Amino acid sequence: MSLPKRYTVTAALIYANGPIHVGHLAGCYLPSDIYVRYLRLKGEDVLFVSGTDEHGVPIMIRGFMEKISPQEVVDKYYAIIDKSFKDFGIEFDIYSRTSKPVHHEFSSAFFKTLYDKGYFHEKTTEQNYDEQANMFLVDRFIVGTCPHCANPKAYGDQCEKCGSDLSPDELINPHSALSGTAPVKKPTNNWFLPLDELQPKLEAYVNSHPEWKANVSGQCKSWLAQGLHPRAMTRDLNWGVKVPLPDAEGKVLYVWFDAPIGYITASKEWFEQPETRKTLTYAGAPKSGNWETYWKDKDSKLVHFIGKDNIVFHCLIFPAMLMAHEGYVLPDNVPANEFLNLEGDKISTSRNWAIWLHEYLEELPGKQDELRYVLTSISPEAKDGEFLWSDYFARVNNELVAIFSNFIHRIMVLTEKNYGGKVPHADTFTKEDLIVLEEAAKFPEKIGACIDNFRFREGQQELMNLARLGNKYLSDNKPWELIKNGVQEERVRTVLYVSFQLAANLSTLCMPFLPFASQKLRTMLNIAQLTWDQAKGTSNIAAGHQLGAAVMLFPKLEEKVIQLQTEKLARIRKENEERKAQEEAAIQQAKKDRAVVAAADLKPLAEVCTIDDFAKMDIRVGTILEAEKMPKSDKLLKLKVDIGHNVRTILSGIAKHYSPEQVIGQQVIVLVNLAPRKMMGIESEGMILMAENADGELSFVSPVKEHMHNGGIVK
Ligand code: 2FM
Ligand code: ZN
Repeated sequence: MSLPKRYTVTAALIYANGPIHVGHLAGCYLPSDIYVRYLRLKGEDVLFVSGTDEHGVPIMIRGFMEKISPQEVVDKYYAIIDKSFKDFGIEFDIYSRTSKPVHHEFSSAFFKTLYDKGYFHEKTTEQNYDEQANMFLVDRFIVGTCPHCANPKAYGDQCEKCGSDLSPDELINPHSALSGTAPVKKPTNNWFLPLDELQPKLEAYVNSHPEWKANVSGQCKSWLAQGLHPRAMTRDLNWGVKVPLPDAEGKVLYVWFDAPIGYITASKEWFEQPETRKTLTYAGAPKSGNWETYWKDKDSKLVHFIGKDNIVFHCLIFPAMLMAHEGYVLPDNVPANEFLNLEGDKISTSRNWAIWLHEYLEELPGKQDELRYVLTSISPEAKDGEFLWSDYFARVNNELVAIFSNFIHRIMVLTEKNYGGKVPHADTFTKEDLIVLEEAAKFPEKIGACIDNFRFREGQQELMNLARLGNKYLSDNKPWELIKNGVQEERVRTVLYVSFQLAANLSTLCMPFLPFASQKLRTMLNIAQLTWDQAKGTSNIAAGHQLGAAVMLFPKLEEKVIQLQTEKLARIRKENEERKAQEEAAIQQAKKDRAVVAAADLKPLAEVCTIDDFAKMDIRVGTILEAEKMPKSDKLLKLKVDIGHNVRTILSGIAKHYSPEQVIGQQVIVLVNLAPRKMMGIESEGMILMAENADGELSFVSPVKEHMHNGGIVK
């Protein structure tokens, strides 16, 4: 491709079903923000879009868990997520939502175009159905026991305990996550995109991008090698974009069909509804005329930033949709990141094993750039990364504070003290000064080459090398000693002048990575933002220029701040371990119970009885008031039971299981119209209902709610 005229950059539309954590930030939002800031400093024309994915089962499940509607779920989390991005300086042109009517219309029309072109195959398949909730159970709506690890909470598409991919039919004891009932099979029609037919075109497309990251092309090639299959693009659900066809009542577009179209809708909104635009804190709004230029002009470069779990959707399925539709450019690159782990464990929302962005800011206010810096340093670009608080502490104090901040602080303080805060005039440059300026001039290109190739970690290291160059130059020349000795004052001025050129360049070159520090540094230096190419200059800050006040660019971190974080994680780890032990015990118990039931010679179920048969029985709640052993019987207890209307004498065969003391005060269920029967000279006026397990142990059957009044009817 010739040099692009413009860039369309997207960052994954995250499900609006929870707040966001460091894994999300490191995965695609930080890299995309760095990329876009850099492109804009280079003067490129960029449209940067993202938003929330507000459809699909994950949203519905969250609503079910929180007992709120799906709409309430997405409203709540959209606000939290949008704020986190703003707080961390992730600056999209627009942060949209797939629940907006404009997106429903647009994605629906996109589907209809493919339908009219005859792309979809309509197929009837048997799907699981919840007769109580009256809905089809797709993906995570079915839970059951994992056939591989016996986890009783495995989902219809995956077991989170052992990581196996599952289909609902593999689950042992499958049941609906909504009603708990066993699903029944019901036929239903859906529309499938024949990815198998599109495979040759997709293969050629993937092969035409040898520059893609190895983890990305590796995953694509493995899918292609296995052979693509038709994939349903509609679902039997009531939450999502309605399928725009007759006879499609109760069906919506597959969430992975409408979500990537959300990138296009967001672009369209930016152009057609200016009130949806975000105000950027730096210059660089999109320059081209309309959304179609960014999506249809062959000179537009489309780049999707995502996490590795989204690769197949962005590299195969979305391109297949775009090819089928025609007229759109295809993704030019999809620099997907691997995952970030936290202190040795996978980040997990359900186990609260994460650093949530909103909590981080409450506990470490003002330290957005510190987190951005550490996350880029450990960015999971080629393999999974690891976040450790000890590493965070070391990187902040040994790199940001000791190198970058220290360099700036030393020149600011010396100048404030000795030159009234004005950049001093340089004397004659020595060879060393010229070499330093020459070296410094190479950094925009060095850092830029890394960013162009999505190597953000390395780009940031190069940035720090420029700060290191400045710091070393100062340490070699020791201007603070020269000024004290008062012998080479002209040398002090020259060293400071050269250092301020590096500082000015740093203030722009750090902007993609550390936007807050960049602003702080520019305020200290009292200069405006340079362009990327200007940041190689050797006279960006003039002699005599009045500086602002010196402040610490990065204050030193106290050890106790980190200690609080590690203690917090230790508490969460302990709670998780306790819960895991309880779950493990429950799994073992369930296994034992199943074995006992399997081994027991269970009595066959009794013949069917009618409601009339049942209605003959008068069953009541009662309380045992008195109890004593029947003389000469090791089986019978003689009980006085208050059944509300009167107190009955009942002989019950429970003496081997309960002592008289144990049963006094016990609420029980009594068959009160059983014909009286005389035993050992005493008339028994009812029967207490008991449950018996496979080992012959007896237990009372009792109302679960406390304070059921005696005489209450059991029905
Ligand atoms: O993994 C997720 O959170 C998905 N909602 C990402 C969708 S990206 C795009 F297709 F919109
Ligand atoms: Zn499992």
